[in-house]
Amino acid sequence: MTSRVFESVPPDPIAYLDRLAVSELGREYKSAMLAALSVERGQTVVDLGCGPGTDLSALAEAAGPEGTVLGVDHDREAVDTAAERTAHLLQVDVRLGDLHELPLADGSYDRARTDRVLQHVADPALALREARRVLRPGGLLVLGEPDWGTLTVDHPDAALTAAYTRYVTDQAVRNARIGSQLPRLAAGAGLDVLDVRPLTPVFREVSTADQVLGLQRVTHRAVTAGYFTAEDAERWLTHLATGHFLAAVTFHVVTARA
Ligand SMILES: C[S@@+](CC[C@H](N)C(=O)[O-])C[C@H]1O[C@@H](n2cnc3c(N)ncnc32)[C@H](O)[C@@H]1O
Repeated sequence: MTSRVFESVPPDPIAYLDRLAVSELGREYKSAMLAALSVERGQTVVDLGCGPGTDLSALAEAAGPEGTVLGVDHDREAVDTAAERTAHLLQVDVRLGDLHELPLADGSYDRARTDRVLQHVADPALALREARRVLRPGGLLVLGEPDWGTLTVDHPDAALTAAYTRYVTDQAVRNARIGSQLPRLAAGAGLDVLDVRPLTPVFREVSTADQVLGLQRVTHRAVTAGYFTAEDAERWLTHLATGHFLAAVTFHVVTARA
């Protein structure tokens, strides 16, 4: 039964990002991030960790043909895909680069954003200092990151939910609590935190949640890591697949000024 509900093969990373971007959750928080960034026509905008260019077209539309938009990512395939997808937009450029050492001049951007990137980087504090460095004084940085410690997946045995969330925060995601840490880290990087907006998508359908959370794959890894017994994993997944389903996790959209 569970095999019909959960994805058995992990999606290709670009397909995963594309799917999330067009989901109700993706559209809601990406539009909240775009509104917070308040890009004006003619401005210079950089998307740090742009992936396959998911947001570059919307940024280009906001900046207009007189603006410039740059996507930076350290993954060659993501950069090539982003460049291909935005080739028709003359104001968009895409560059290979690391957020810890941006290949960009000081004070060269009016707006910068990261979208689910700082959860993966080795040193978020350094990445934030770099983001601040490339912003002009008064420029805005908008950060959107989850706090995986807020993840809840309803199950009659709350200990199983706690074990699942503990595995995700301890091992599955490098900087799992980053969403709630953003205001402190941004202030530590010398930014002025203007706004913190929590967004909590609630999943009431197991397959939809699975497309974002990879419930079965993560559970199997949690068994290998010793967070679940194989029997508990079976009990957990069977209930998720067949019972009344609810999962939720909070993202924070933080706006800060350089
Ligand atoms: C979850 S994806 C998000 C992509 C895109 N922002 C989106 O919303 O679709 C995270 C991206 O951050 C990039 N990334 C992670 N660490 C990075 C680093 N140190 N420097 C540059 N890019 C990085 C990854 O290659 C990946 O494309």
